Amino acid sequence: MENFKYQNPTKIVFGKGQIQSLDQEIPTDAKRVLLLYGGGSIKKNGVYDEVIKHLQAAGKEVVELSGVEPNPRLTTVQKGIDLVKEHELDFILAVGGGSVIDCAKAIAIGSRYDGDVWDIILKKAVPTSAVPFGTVLTIAATGSEMNSGGVITNWEENDKRSFGSIYTYPKFSILDPELTYSVPLNQTIYGIVDTMSHVFEQYFNASTNTPLQDRFGESILRTVLEVGPKLVKDLHSYEYREVMMLNSTFALNGVLSMGVKTDWATHMIEHAVSAVYDIPHGGGLAILFPSWMSFVSEQKPEKVAQLGKNVFDLDATGKTDAELAKETIAALQEFWTSIGAPTKLADFDIDDAQLDLMAERSMVAEKIGSYVPLSKEDVKEILKRSL
Ligand code: NZQ
Ligand code: ZN
Repeated sequence: MENFKYQNPTKIVFGKGQIQSLDQEIPTDAKRVLLLYGGGSIKKNGVYDEVIKHLQAAGKEVVELSGVEPNPRLTTVQKGIDLVKEHELDFILAVGGGSVIDCAKAIAIGSRYDGDVWDIILKKAVPTSAVPFGTVLTIAATGSEMNSGGVITNWEENDKRSFGSIYTYPKFSILDPELTYSVPLNQTIYGIVDTMSHVFEQYFNASTNTPLQDRFGESILRTVLEVGPKLVKDLHSYEYREVMMLNSTFALNGVLSMGVKTDWATHMIEHAVSAVYDIPHGGGLAILFPSWMSFVSEQKPEKVAQLGKNVFDLDATGKTDAELAKETIAALQEFWTSIGAPTKLADFDIDDAQLDLMAERSMVAEKIGSYVPLSKEDVKEILKRSL
Protein backbone atom coordinates (compact mmCIF):
# COMPACT_ATOMS: atom_id res chain seq x y z
CA MET A 1 0.00 0.00 0.00
CA GLU A 2 1.08 3.60 -0.54
CA ASN A 3 0.98 6.20 2.22
CA PHE A 4 -2.06 8.42 1.89
CA LYS A 5 -4.11 11.24 3.35
CA TYR A 6 -7.86 11.19 2.95
CA GLN A 7 -10.41 13.89 3.60
CA ASN A 8 -13.76 14.32 1.91
CA PRO A 9 -15.73 17.32 3.12
CA THR A 10 -18.85 16.85 0.93
CA LYS A 11 -22.08 16.30 2.83
CA ILE A 12 -24.32 13.73 1.15
CA VAL A 13 -28.08 14.00 1.61
CA PHE A 14 -29.44 10.75 0.20
CA GLY A 15 -32.89 9.34 -0.42
CA LYS A 16 -36.48 9.75 -1.51
CA GLY A 17 -37.82 13.27 -1.25
CA GLN A 18 -34.49 14.71 -0.09
CA ILE A 19 -34.77 17.58 -2.52
CA GLN A 20 -36.97 19.02 0.23
CA SER A 21 -33.77 19.65 2.22
CA LEU A 22 -32.41 22.10 -0.34
CA ASP A 23 -33.41 25.28 1.49
CA GLN A 24 -31.79 24.04 4.70
CA GLU A 25 -28.58 22.98 2.97
CA ILE A 26 -27.82 26.24 1.15
CA PRO A 27 -25.84 28.36 3.62
CA THR A 28 -27.87 31.20 5.12
CA ASP A 29 -25.15 33.72 4.32
CA ALA A 30 -25.39 32.92 0.60
CA LYS A 31 -27.70 35.60 -0.77
CA ARG A 32 -27.29 35.45 -4.54
CA VAL A 33 -27.17 32.10 -6.25
CA LEU A 34 -26.06 31.03 -9.72
CA LEU A 35 -28.45 28.25 -10.75
CA LEU A 36 -26.63 26.13 -13.32
CA TYR A 37 -28.28 23.43 -15.42
CA GLY A 38 -28.12 21.59 -18.73
CA GLY A 39 -30.19 21.39 -21.87
CA GLY A 40 -33.63 21.31 -20.33
CA SER A 41 -34.27 17.85 -18.83
CA ILE A 42 -34.92 19.49 -15.45
CA LYS A 43 -37.70 21.60 -16.97
CA LYS A 44 -39.41 18.50 -18.42
CA ASN A 45 -39.28 16.38 -15.29
CA GLY A 46 -40.34 19.05 -12.79
CA VAL A 47 -37.00 19.30 -10.96
CA TYR A 48 -36.53 22.93 -12.03
CA ASP A 49 -39.85 24.00 -10.48
CA GLU A 50 -39.03 22.16 -7.28
CA VAL A 51 -35.58 23.75 -7.03
CA ILE A 52 -36.93 27.26 -7.69
CA LYS A 53 -39.59 26.72 -5.01
CA HIS A 54 -36.93 25.87 -2.42
CA LEU A 55 -34.59 28.68 -3.43
CA GLN A 56 -37.46 31.14 -3.09
CA ALA A 57 -38.45 29.64 0.26
CA ALA A 58 -34.88 30.24 1.42
CA GLY A 59 -35.10 33.86 0.23
CA LYS A 60 -32.33 33.62 -2.38
CA GLU A 61 -31.87 35.87 -5.38
CA VAL A 62 -31.34 33.63 -8.40
CA VAL A 63 -29.41 34.17 -11.64
CA GLU A 64 -29.67 31.29 -14.12
CA LEU A 65 -27.26 29.80 -16.62
CA SER A 66 -28.74 26.96 -18.66
CA GLY A 67 -27.49 25.01 -21.66
CA VAL A 68 -24.44 23.39 -20.07
CA GLU A 69 -23.43 20.85 -22.70
CA PRO A 70 -22.81 17.15 -22.07
CA ASN A 71 -18.99 17.31 -22.19
CA PRO A 72 -19.14 20.90 -20.87
CA ARG A 73 -17.25 23.55 -22.75
CA LEU A 74 -14.83 26.22 -21.67
CA THR A 75 -16.98 28.89 -23.35
CA THR A 76 -19.87 28.00 -21.00
CA VAL A 77 -17.55 28.08 -17.99
CA GLN A 78 -16.52 31.58 -19.06
CA LYS A 79 -20.18 32.68 -19.30
CA GLY A 80 -20.71 31.45 -15.74
CA ILE A 81 -17.63 33.27 -14.45
CA ASP A 82 -18.84 36.50 -16.09
CA LEU A 83 -22.26 36.14 -14.42
CA VAL A 84 -20.74 35.46 -10.99
CA LYS A 85 -18.54 38.54 -11.28
CA GLU A 86 -21.19 40.82 -12.79
CA HIS A 87 -23.90 39.98 -10.22
CA GLU A 88 -21.54 39.34 -7.28
CA LEU A 89 -23.00 35.87 -6.79
CA ASP A 90 -21.91 34.08 -3.64
CA PHE A 91 -23.11 30.52 -4.18
CA ILE A 92 -23.47 28.15 -7.15
CA LEU A 93 -26.12 25.45 -7.32
CA ALA A 94 -25.51 22.81 -9.99
CA VAL A 95 -28.62 20.81 -10.90
CA GLY A 96 -27.76 17.98 -13.28
CA GLY A 97 -25.17 15.33 -13.98
CA GLY A 98 -21.40 15.26 -14.17
CA SER A 99 -21.34 17.87 -16.92
CA VAL A 100 -23.26 20.50 -14.97
CA ILE A 101 -21.39 19.73 -11.75
CA ASP A 102 -17.98 19.87 -13.45
CA CYS A 103 -18.92 23.16 -15.09
CA ALA A 104 -19.89 24.50 -11.65
CA LYS A 105 -16.50 23.45 -10.26
CA ALA A 106 -14.66 25.31 -13.02
CA ILE A 107 -16.85 28.41 -12.59
CA ALA A 108 -16.26 28.26 -8.83
CA ILE A 109 -12.47 28.41 -9.09
CA GLY A 110 -12.40 30.58 -12.21
CA SER A 111 -14.48 33.28 -10.53
CA ARG A 112 -11.83 33.71 -7.85
CA TYR A 113 -8.92 33.83 -10.29
CA ASP A 114 -7.91 36.93 -12.23
CA GLY A 115 -6.35 35.13 -15.19
CA ASP A 116 -7.77 32.64 -17.70
CA VAL A 117 -9.44 29.64 -16.01
CA TRP A 118 -7.97 27.36 -18.72
CA ASP A 119 -4.55 28.03 -17.13
CA ILE A 120 -5.81 26.34 -13.96
CA ILE A 121 -7.23 23.43 -15.91
CA LEU A 122 -3.89 23.01 -17.70
CA LYS A 123 -2.21 23.15 -14.27
CA LYS A 124 -0.21 26.24 -15.21
CA ALA A 125 -1.86 28.09 -12.31
CA VAL A 126 -3.08 26.93 -8.92
CA PRO A 127 -6.47 27.92 -7.50
CA THR A 128 -6.40 29.55 -4.09
CA SER A 129 -10.12 29.81 -3.38
CA ALA A 130 -13.53 29.15 -4.90
CA VAL A 131 -17.11 30.30 -4.74
CA PRO A 132 -18.88 27.68 -2.59
CA PHE A 133 -21.24 25.37 -4.46
CA GLY A 134 -23.70 22.55 -3.92
CA THR A 135 -25.33 20.04 -6.23
CA VAL A 136 -28.63 18.35 -6.91
CA LEU A 137 -27.71 15.21 -8.81
CA THR A 138 -30.04 14.03 -11.61
CA ILE A 139 -28.10 11.11 -13.14
CA ALA A 140 -26.00 8.33 -11.60
CA ALA A 141 -22.66 8.10 -13.39
CA THR A 142 -19.59 10.18 -12.69
CA GLY A 143 -19.31 10.50 -8.92
CA SER A 144 -18.61 14.22 -9.43
CA GLU A 145 -21.18 14.89 -6.69
CA MET A 146 -18.74 13.62 -4.05
CA ASN A 147 -15.31 14.28 -5.46
CA SER A 148 -13.16 17.27 -6.32
CA GLY A 149 -12.55 16.44 -9.99
CA GLY A 150 -13.95 18.06 -13.08
CA VAL A 151 -13.48 17.69 -16.83
CA ILE A 152 -13.78 20.60 -19.28
CA THR A 153 -13.55 20.65 -23.07
CA ASN A 154 -11.78 23.39 -24.98
CA TRP A 155 -13.58 22.65 -28.23
CA GLU A 156 -11.56 25.07 -30.37
CA GLU A 157 -8.38 23.20 -29.37
CA ASN A 158 -9.96 19.70 -29.36
CA ASP A 159 -8.68 19.33 -25.85
CA LYS A 160 -10.58 17.83 -22.91
CA ARG A 161 -8.80 18.04 -19.56
CA SER A 162 -9.45 17.08 -15.99
CA PHE A 163 -8.67 19.27 -12.99
CA GLY A 164 -9.26 19.22 -9.29
CA SER A 165 -8.34 20.91 -6.04
CA ILE A 166 -9.30 21.01 -2.40
CA TYR A 167 -11.61 23.90 -3.32
CA THR A 168 -13.73 21.88 -5.74
CA TYR A 169 -15.56 19.55 -3.39
CA PRO A 170 -19.28 20.37 -3.30
CA LYS A 171 -20.45 21.70 0.09
CA PHE A 172 -23.39 19.32 -0.20
CA SER A 173 -24.95 17.02 -2.76
CA ILE A 174 -28.57 16.00 -2.75
CA LEU A 175 -28.95 12.48 -4.09
CA ASP A 176 -32.63 11.77 -4.59
CA PRO A 177 -32.98 8.64 -6.73
CA GLU A 178 -36.48 9.70 -7.84
CA LEU A 179 -34.87 12.52 -9.83
CA THR A 180 -33.22 9.89 -12.03
CA TYR A 181 -36.45 8.17 -13.17
CA SER A 182 -36.46 10.25 -16.35
CA VAL A 183 -32.87 9.43 -17.35
CA PRO A 184 -33.30 7.78 -20.77
CA LEU A 185 -32.12 4.23 -21.48
CA ASN A 186 -28.92 5.20 -23.32
CA GLN A 187 -27.76 7.57 -20.57
CA THR A 188 -28.64 4.94 -17.93
CA ILE A 189 -26.41 2.46 -19.77
CA TYR A 190 -23.57 4.98 -20.03
CA GLY A 191 -23.86 5.60 -16.28
CA ILE A 192 -23.53 1.89 -15.57
CA VAL A 193 -20.45 1.64 -17.80
CA ASP A 194 -18.86 4.77 -16.30
CA THR A 195 -19.37 3.48 -12.76
CA MET A 196 -17.70 0.15 -13.59
CA SER A 197 -14.91 1.95 -15.42
CA HIS A 198 -14.16 4.10 -12.37
CA VAL A 199 -13.66 0.96 -10.35
CA PHE A 200 -11.37 -0.47 -13.05
CA GLU A 201 -9.22 2.67 -13.11
CA GLN A 202 -8.47 2.23 -9.42
CA TYR A 203 -8.52 -1.59 -9.24
CA PHE A 204 -5.85 -1.81 -11.94
CA ASN A 205 -3.05 -0.01 -10.17
CA ALA A 206 0.67 -0.10 -9.55
CA SER A 207 0.46 -0.98 -5.85
CA THR A 208 0.65 -4.21 -3.91
CA ASN A 209 -1.04 -5.57 -0.81
CA THR A 210 -4.36 -3.80 -1.29
CA PRO A 211 -6.85 -6.58 -0.50
CA LEU A 212 -9.38 -4.32 1.20
CA GLN A 213 -9.39 -1.82 -1.68
CA ASP A 214 -9.77 -4.76 -4.09
CA ARG A 215 -12.73 -6.20 -2.17
CA PHE A 216 -14.41 -2.75 -2.01
CA GLY A 217 -14.08 -2.40 -5.79
CA GLU A 218 -15.20 -5.96 -6.47
CA SER A 219 -18.31 -5.46 -4.35
CA ILE A 220 -19.28 -2.35 -6.30
CA LEU A 221 -18.78 -4.27 -9.55
CA ARG A 222 -20.76 -7.29 -8.36
CA THR A 223 -23.58 -4.99 -7.27
CA VAL A 224 -23.63 -3.36 -10.71
CA LEU A 225 -23.72 -6.80 -12.40
CA GLU A 226 -26.68 -7.71 -10.21
CA VAL A 227 -28.71 -4.51 -10.51
CA GLY A 228 -27.68 -2.98 -13.87
CA PRO A 229 -29.53 -5.51 -16.08
CA LYS A 230 -32.68 -5.16 -13.96
CA LEU A 231 -32.52 -1.36 -14.10
CA VAL A 232 -32.25 -1.17 -17.90
CA LYS A 233 -35.48 -3.19 -18.10
CA ASP A 234 -37.28 -1.15 -15.45
CA LEU A 235 -36.16 2.47 -15.56
CA HIS A 236 -38.82 3.58 -13.08
CA SER A 237 -37.78 1.24 -10.28
CA TYR A 238 -36.87 3.17 -7.14
CA GLU A 239 -35.11 0.11 -5.78
CA TYR A 240 -32.70 -0.20 -8.74
CA ARG A 241 -32.21 3.55 -9.16
CA GLU A 242 -31.19 4.00 -5.50
CA VAL A 243 -28.67 1.17 -5.64
CA MET A 244 -27.11 2.53 -8.84
CA MET A 245 -26.95 6.02 -7.39
CA LEU A 246 -25.03 4.87 -4.33
CA ASN A 247 -22.83 2.64 -6.50
CA SER A 248 -21.79 5.45 -8.81
CA THR A 249 -21.08 7.82 -5.93
CA PHE A 250 -18.92 5.27 -4.13
CA ALA A 251 -17.07 4.27 -7.29
CA LEU A 252 -15.40 7.68 -7.37
CA ASN A 253 -15.48 9.38 -3.99
CA GLY A 254 -11.88 8.59 -3.15
CA VAL A 255 -12.47 5.48 -1.04
CA LEU A 256 -11.14 3.07 -3.69
CA SER A 257 -8.03 5.21 -4.26
CA MET A 258 -6.76 5.09 -0.71
CA GLY A 259 -3.23 3.74 -0.70
CA VAL A 260 -3.12 2.88 -4.41
CA LYS A 261 -1.38 4.33 -7.47
CA THR A 262 -4.37 4.47 -9.80
CA ASP A 263 -4.33 4.05 -13.58
CA TRP A 264 -6.79 6.34 -15.49
CA ALA A 265 -5.20 5.75 -18.92
CA THR A 266 -8.50 4.63 -20.46
CA HIS A 267 -10.20 7.78 -19.21
CA MET A 268 -7.45 9.89 -20.74
CA ILE A 269 -7.95 8.11 -24.06
CA GLU A 270 -11.73 8.50 -23.84
CA HIS A 271 -11.43 12.18 -23.05
CA ALA A 272 -9.30 12.56 -26.19
CA VAL A 273 -11.92 10.73 -28.28
CA SER A 274 -14.66 12.97 -26.83
CA ALA A 275 -12.55 16.07 -27.45
CA VAL A 276 -12.38 15.24 -31.15
CA TYR A 277 -15.81 13.63 -31.73
CA ASP A 278 -17.98 14.84 -28.80
CA ILE A 279 -19.33 11.37 -27.95
CA PRO A 280 -20.90 10.42 -24.59
CA HIS A 281 -18.25 9.57 -22.00
CA GLY A 282 -19.73 6.20 -20.91
CA GLY A 283 -20.23 5.16 -24.54
CA GLY A 284 -16.55 5.76 -25.26
CA LEU A 285 -15.47 3.80 -22.20
CA ALA A 286 -17.57 0.77 -23.18
CA ILE A 287 -15.61 0.61 -26.43
CA LEU A 288 -12.14 1.39 -25.08
CA PHE A 289 -11.95 -0.63 -21.86
CA PRO A 290 -12.01 -4.11 -23.44
CA SER A 291 -9.28 -3.00 -25.88
CA TRP A 292 -7.20 -1.57 -23.02
CA MET A 293 -7.64 -4.80 -21.03
CA SER A 294 -6.62 -6.98 -23.94
CA PHE A 295 -3.54 -4.80 -24.54
CA VAL A 296 -2.34 -4.77 -20.92
CA SER A 297 -3.13 -8.47 -20.42
CA GLU A 298 -0.42 -9.29 -22.93
CA GLN A 299 2.10 -7.97 -20.37
CA LYS A 300 0.24 -8.28 -17.06
CA PRO A 301 -2.75 -10.63 -17.08
CA GLU A 302 -2.83 -11.27 -13.30
CA LYS A 303 -5.26 -8.62 -12.14
CA VAL A 304 -7.54 -9.09 -15.14
CA ALA A 305 -7.65 -12.79 -14.19
CA GLN A 306 -8.47 -11.81 -10.58
CA LEU A 307 -11.35 -9.68 -11.88
CA GLY A 308 -12.65 -12.70 -13.77
CA LYS A 309 -12.53 -14.96 -10.72
CA ASN A 310 -13.85 -12.53 -8.11
CA VAL A 311 -16.40 -10.56 -10.11
CA PHE A 312 -17.50 -12.73 -13.06
CA ASP A 313 -17.20 -15.99 -11.08
CA LEU A 314 -15.05 -17.64 -13.76
CA ASP A 315 -13.68 -21.07 -12.97
CA ALA A 316 -9.89 -20.77 -12.78
CA THR A 317 -9.17 -24.49 -12.53
CA GLY A 318 -6.28 -25.52 -14.74
CA LYS A 319 -6.10 -22.15 -16.52
CA THR A 320 -3.22 -19.73 -16.84
CA ASP A 321 -3.75 -16.08 -15.95
CA ALA A 322 -3.50 -15.23 -19.64
CA GLU A 323 -6.29 -17.66 -20.52
CA LEU A 324 -8.44 -16.42 -17.69
CA ALA A 325 -7.82 -12.79 -18.67
CA LYS A 326 -9.16 -13.52 -22.17
CA GLU A 327 -12.29 -15.07 -20.68
CA THR A 328 -12.69 -12.08 -18.37
CA ILE A 329 -12.60 -9.62 -21.25
CA ALA A 330 -15.15 -11.73 -23.13
CA ALA A 331 -17.39 -11.80 -20.03
CA LEU A 332 -17.14 -8.02 -19.64
CA GLN A 333 -17.96 -7.46 -23.32
CA GLU A 334 -20.86 -9.87 -23.10
CA PHE A 335 -22.22 -8.03 -20.06
CA TRP A 336 -21.95 -4.60 -21.68
CA THR A 337 -23.49 -5.86 -24.93
CA SER A 338 -26.34 -7.47 -22.97
CA ILE A 339 -27.34 -4.11 -21.46
CA GLY A 340 -27.05 -2.34 -24.82
CA ALA A 341 -23.67 -0.57 -24.63
CA PRO A 342 -21.76 0.25 -27.84
CA THR A 343 -18.80 -1.97 -28.76
CA LYS A 344 -16.87 -0.23 -31.55
CA LEU A 345 -15.87 3.34 -32.41
CA ALA A 346 -17.73 2.73 -35.67
CA ASP A 347 -20.94 2.74 -33.58
CA PHE A 348 -20.32 6.50 -33.27
CA ASP A 349 -19.19 6.77 -36.94
CA ILE A 350 -15.56 7.15 -35.93
CA ASP A 351 -12.94 5.76 -38.31
CA ASP A 352 -9.14 5.91 -38.31
CA ALA A 353 -8.94 9.42 -39.82
CA GLN A 354 -8.08 11.18 -36.55
CA LEU A 355 -6.21 8.36 -34.84
CA ASP A 356 -3.03 10.41 -34.53
CA LEU A 357 -4.78 13.43 -33.07
CA MET A 358 -6.65 11.28 -30.53
CA ALA A 359 -3.44 9.50 -29.49
CA GLU A 360 -1.66 12.84 -29.25
CA ARG A 361 -4.42 14.37 -27.07
CA SER A 362 -4.43 11.32 -24.77
CA MET A 363 -0.80 11.92 -23.82
CA VAL A 364 -1.18 14.33 -20.89
CA ALA A 365 2.21 12.98 -19.76
CA GLU A 366 5.05 11.19 -21.54
CA LYS A 367 3.46 7.89 -20.49
CA ILE A 368 -0.08 7.48 -19.20
CA GLY A 369 -1.45 4.93 -16.74
CA SER A 370 0.22 3.03 -13.93
CA TYR A 371 -0.85 -0.64 -14.22
CA VAL A 372 0.99 -0.72 -17.54
CA PRO A 373 2.35 2.75 -18.44
CA LEU A 374 1.42 3.47 -22.07
CA SER A 375 3.33 5.29 -24.79
CA LYS A 376 1.64 7.15 -27.63
CA GLU A 377 2.20 4.11 -29.87
CA ASP A 378 0.48 1.87 -27.29
CA VAL A 379 -2.47 4.26 -27.20
CA LYS A 380 -2.69 4.16 -30.98
CA GLU A 381 -2.77 0.38 -30.87
CA ILE A 382 -5.61 0.47 -28.28
CA LEU A 383 -7.53 2.91 -30.48
CA LYS A 384 -6.98 0.67 -33.52
CA ARG A 385 -8.33 -2.33 -31.62
CA SER A 386 -11.43 -0.22 -30.81
CA LEU A 387 -12.31 0.70 -34.41
O1 NZQ B 1 -28.57 18.49 -20.35
P1 NZQ B 1 -29.83 17.87 -19.89
O2 NZQ B 1 -31.02 18.31 -20.66
O3 NZQ B 1 -30.03 17.99 -18.40
O4 NZQ B 1 -29.73 16.29 -20.23
C1 NZQ B 1 -28.70 15.45 -19.75
C2 NZQ B 1 -27.64 15.13 -20.79
O5 NZQ B 1 -28.17 15.20 -22.09
C3 NZQ B 1 -29.31 14.09 -19.47
N1 NZQ B 1 -29.87 13.98 -18.13
C4 NZQ B 1 -29.28 14.17 -16.95
N2 NZQ B 1 -30.14 13.94 -15.93
C5 NZQ B 1 -31.32 13.63 -16.51
C6 NZQ B 1 -31.17 13.65 -17.90
N3 NZQ B 1 -32.18 13.39 -18.76
C7 NZQ B 1 -33.37 13.10 -18.23
N4 NZQ B 1 -33.59 13.03 -16.89
C8 NZQ B 1 -32.60 13.29 -16.01
N5 NZQ B 1 -32.84 13.19 -14.70
O6 NZQ B 1 -28.23 13.18 -19.58
C9 NZQ B 1 -27.30 13.68 -20.53
C10 NZQ B 1 -25.90 13.47 -20.00
O7 NZQ B 1 -25.65 14.29 -18.88
P2 NZQ B 1 -24.17 14.48 -18.35
O8 NZQ B 1 -24.19 15.37 -17.18
O9 NZQ B 1 -23.30 14.84 -19.51
O10 NZQ B 1 -23.80 12.99 -17.94
P3 NZQ B 1 -22.73 12.44 -16.94
O11 NZQ B 1 -23.18 12.56 -15.55
O12 NZQ B 1 -22.39 11.11 -17.46
O13 NZQ B 1 -21.46 13.43 -17.11
C11 NZQ B 1 -20.53 13.27 -18.16
C12 NZQ B 1 -19.40 14.27 -18.02
O14 NZQ B 1 -18.69 14.09 -16.79
C13 NZQ B 1 -17.29 13.87 -17.08
C14 NZQ B 1 -17.33 13.28 -18.44
O15 NZQ B 1 -16.08 13.35 -19.08
C15 NZQ B 1 -18.38 14.12 -19.13
O16 NZQ B 1 -17.86 15.36 -19.52
N6 NZQ B 1 -16.69 13.08 -15.99
C16 NZQ B 1 -16.56 13.65 -14.80
C17 NZQ B 1 -15.97 13.02 -13.74
C18 NZQ B 1 -15.81 13.67 -12.42
N7 NZQ B 1 -16.08 14.97 -12.31
O17 NZQ B 1 -15.43 13.05 -11.45
C19 NZQ B 1 -15.41 11.68 -13.87
C20 NZQ B 1 -15.88 10.96 -15.07
O18 NZQ B 1 -14.97 9.96 -15.37
C21 NZQ B 1 -16.10 11.80 -16.28
O19 NZQ B 1 -14.92 11.99 -17.02
ZN1 ZN C 1 -15.70 8.30 -16.10
